[in-house]
Amino acid sequence: MSKPVRLLFVCLGNICRSPTAEGIMRKIVEEAGLEEQIVIDSAGTGGWHKGEAPDGRMQEAAKARGYLLDGQARQVKSADFEQFDHIYAMDHSNLSELRKRCPYEMRDKLHLFRSLDELGKNEDTPDPYYGGSRGFDEVVTIVERCCQSLLGRIQKDVQA
Ligand code: 4NP
Repeated sequence: MSKPVRLLFVCLGNICRSPTAEGIMRKIVEEAGLEEQIVIDSAGTGGWHKGEAPDGRMQEAAKARGYLLDGQARQVKSADFEQFDHIYAMDHSNLSELRKRCPYEMRDKLHLFRSLDELGKNEDTPDPYYGGSRGFDEVVTIVERCCQSLLGRIQKDVQA
């Protein structure tokens, strides 16, 4: 079997948006039977929530839609730029932070998550942390749509 494709999702705190992308992508990949071929992880550009579980409000919103969010928050590290094939920033601010830290020759690995979105292309995935509960549900909707699109793109690579 060919080498797995390694995907990393990155937001600010790694407790809301990127763990949601990790959890949703993992479920979609499992449903497609591709869990051996696609490795999925998430991280934050900030380290304030290091070691924490995903935000309880985010976990609830995801659970209501059938997704399990788990794992412990961690900060992006320099080895990530080597180890992952595609690194998706959940918004423009995190994308520019990643661009600053990423070795020049690895920059093609960096993408805006919503470049995958057929609606709202190239927008930010809104940060729900300081908002109401609707924000968390909206994140699930956006992330679901983008992860489906991402699977479509990488399915071709892993089944080649
Ligand atoms: P995330 O959300 O980047 O989607 O995990 C946030 C979590 C925490 C904070 C900001 C955004 N914070 O300021 O602590």
